[in-house]
Amino acid sequence: MNLQKINEFAINTILQAGRQIRESFSKELIIETKANANDLVTNIDRKIEQYFVEKIKELDPSHKILGEEGMGDRIATLDGPLWIIDPIDGTMNFIKQGRHFMITVGFFVDGVGKLGYLYDVMRDELISAIQGEGAFLNRQPLKKLNPLTIEEAIIGINSSWVIPNGKINHEKLVKLIKTVRGTRSYGSAAMEIALVVTGKLDAYLSMRLAPWDIAGGLVIANEVGAVATNLKGQPFNLLSQDTFLIANPSIHQVLLDQYIELIEEKQHSK
Ligand code: IPD
Ligand code: CA
Ligand code: CA
Repeated sequence: MNLQKINEFAINTILQAGRQIRESFSKELIIETKANANDLVTNIDRKIEQYFVEKIKELDPSHKILGEEGMGDRIATLDGPLWIIDPIDGTMNFIKQGRHFMITVGFFVDGVGKLGYLYDVMRDELISAIQGEGAFLNRQPLKKLNPLTIEEAIIGINSSWVIPNGKINHEKLVKLIKTVRGTRSYGSAAMEIALVVTGKLDAYLSMRLAPWDIAGGLVIANEVGAVATNLKGQPFNLLSQDTFLIANPSIHQVLLDQYIELIEEKQHSK
């Protein structure tokens, strides 16, 4: 398998998809809801995913596709070549703000991340990575992350988890917020991952993400030395939803040990 060739294909397809999204602002946007009133999808999310599916099937019909909008294949295993795609990550931002949304794509072979992409459509910034060959921002090499202390860190976290809830010990998160230099919340998991792998944010955690939110980011994280796991410190399960933590390697374990306590875990250990 010629990964360089597939990388060039992926970059061209993502940039072309980005152009289509930017051009869509002058056309009609049809907004629908999915699982709940805040789970939004548009005709553009669907159109862009369909575009990826057509292009990939043209490249190689044997490649499988797992996409958020379900236009690819039904995936039960990670066997063989698999593309994992979120055509627009941050749909709410796309609709409301017209910015702060990403295209993100991962290419895996037998469950091993080979190629990863995080594309900020409105800034025209593409982070890409090939397994073992480093990560790039608009084709310029990205540096490995520098170590830092938890007190120096800026953390991406959604405020919902800092109020009492049934899933994570919020008091420990309050302690985390008092300890770190600052917190941010951007409304696109792929954007928060992009900020971590470029050292602009030092960690990002979420209570529930899907494979397409993080697949591209996982490949890039490996290349810059960021550590990505679920909130139990285990590998993220790419066949289902899972909790998620990506962090600078110097604070990943500190976060897990001192600040993150899942409530179901607490009950199990009693
Ligand atoms: C969502 C965004 C959001 C995260 C949600 C995701 P979508 O993706 O990444 O930041 O908190 O869990 O579902 O629906 O905009 O592709
Ligand atoms: Ca998403
Ligand atoms: Ca999406």
